[in-house]
Amino acid sequence: MASEAKSAVRRYRMYINGEFVESAGKKYFPVIDPSTEEIMAEVPEANEEDVNRAVAAARAAFDSGAWPQTTAQDRGRILFRLAERIRKEAAKLAEVESRNSGKPIVEAEYDIADAATCFEYYGGMATKVLGQVNPVPDNALSLSLREPIGVAAQIIPWNYPLLMAAWKLAPAIAAGCTCVLKPAEQTPLTALEFAGYLADAGLPPGVVNIITGFGETCGAPLVKHPDVNKVAFTGSASVGKAIMKAAADTVKRVTLELGGKSPNIFFADADFESAIDGALFGVFINQGEVCSAGSRILVEKSIYPKFVEAMSAKAKTIRLGPPLERETKMGPLVSKDQFDRVRSYQELGKKEAKLAAGGGRPASISRGYYVEPTIFYDVDNSARIAQEEIFGPVAAVIPFADEAEALRIANATPYGLAAAIWSRDIFKALRMVKALRAGIVWVNHMQPTYVEAPWGGYKQSGFGRELGPWGIEEYLETKQVHINLNEQPIGWY
Ligand code: NAI
Ligand code: MG
Repeated sequence: MASEAKSAVRRYRMYINGEFVESAGKKYFPVIDPSTEEIMAEVPEANEEDVNRAVAAARAAFDSGAWPQTTAQDRGRILFRLAERIRKEAAKLAEVESRNSGKPIVEAEYDIADAATCFEYYGGMATKVLGQVNPVPDNALSLSLREPIGVAAQIIPWNYPLLMAAWKLAPAIAAGCTCVLKPAEQTPLTALEFAGYLADAGLPPGVVNIITGFGETCGAPLVKHPDVNKVAFTGSASVGKAIMKAAADTVKRVTLELGGKSPNIFFADADFESAIDGALFGVFINQGEVCSAGSRILVEKSIYPKFVEAMSAKAKTIRLGPPLERETKMGPLVSKDQFDRVRSYQELGKKEAKLAAGGGRPASISRGYYVEPTIFYDVDNSARIAQEEIFGPVAAVIPFADEAEALRIANATPYGLAAAIWSRDIFKALRMVKALRAGIVWVNHMQPTYVEAPWGGYKQSGFGRELGPWGIEEYLETKQVHINLNEQPIGWY
């Protein structure tokens, strides 16, 4: 029976140079379903040798062969076909994503649709990358040309697996780069499903390579590889810092998206019902495993007691359950590691502040990495639960007296990814918009994200911007071309 169950586990292969392959060492590692704690699949464990193979394929595809000959229009059409294919396979992709990451199926469906939209958006952008004529004071034609950076190493996290792959791959392909993508070890499956669409869409071998492995043994050699020109990373601040250092040796271009401790700020004049929903959605969406989670909830003193009470009462009604059930509003955390980490912050919070809701694992669910939506209040902004990224459904509610104090607390963090303000006073909201040190500021909402608008952080939340025209910029070099139009000989000597 045990061996029968084992043989039912699907073995995926990874994708190098247009082929599905095993790792050089023929090793596999298990992928866990976080709602059952059981193995749902196995994927190849890539090591440095596999990294070398993948980078060699990407290098060759960039330097010679069909890819450098493609037109922007060709690349656009490939991206449109990928978008169409994702839409066609959406139900299957959403199911795999939901099972593998633990996110509710309804949220997974949104993510898959967003991934398709991202490929479509950059399909359109491929033909809108423009050069320029520079008005130099000479009888010359001065041009700036935009060219692809080269081979991009793309390392992504587990919270939005296929969507993060789309944010990285789509602009890189549009720009004419080649890619080695490393999904997070916890959630490699939708990226490997997606690999199966690339050749059908007309992408030449080697342009996109997808390798599965761990950070130290696969991610680190990828970042160090001298044939890689650019590293795009989304993940933890500590790994981001290590990547930036490693990239320095060969002066790779780097973009980092490193999460945060984003303030969600509620003034007394905000619409109360919307505010409560906005606070819950801001911090609990995707089990709180969101880089822009509104994990610090700042509330004006005059509404503070009522706010904490209403928010906590509603948090207790959030339906936890199996991710594939459509009624589920919160699934398990992605992994045992993340579960342990969030549980330890729940316990720390009980020492640092007062508990209003949750605080443990749900009593009614006996297996799976579930934790309760948790709200701490009377939190001091200097407490660890207010300063450190928890990346789980744990909110720190902090009171403030006035606008100046709200702003001071909001900005008192090493991070600067996102912030939100809730108020019906447009002047106050706009003053806050200008003064907040964050890359994304929402007013009377939190979390809506659009491929047309820039995404990225201030301060230690990273640098570079994804999405929109900013996203493709990060995959382009600028070449100056000077064409002398004087027919007379030029000379100094
Ligand atoms: P992580 O930063 O270790 O993992 C993200 C990606 O980086 C994965 O693909 C991983 O394999 C890779 N990686 C790890 N070490 C590497 C290295 N030395 N060189 C190159 N690549 C490497 O994040 P982890 O450990 O999964 O989560 C820990 C915490 O990080 C979370 O609790 C959360 O606070 C934060 N995080 C933030 C994310 C964001 O979206 N900003 C996403 C995931 C995690
Ligand atoms: Mg890690």
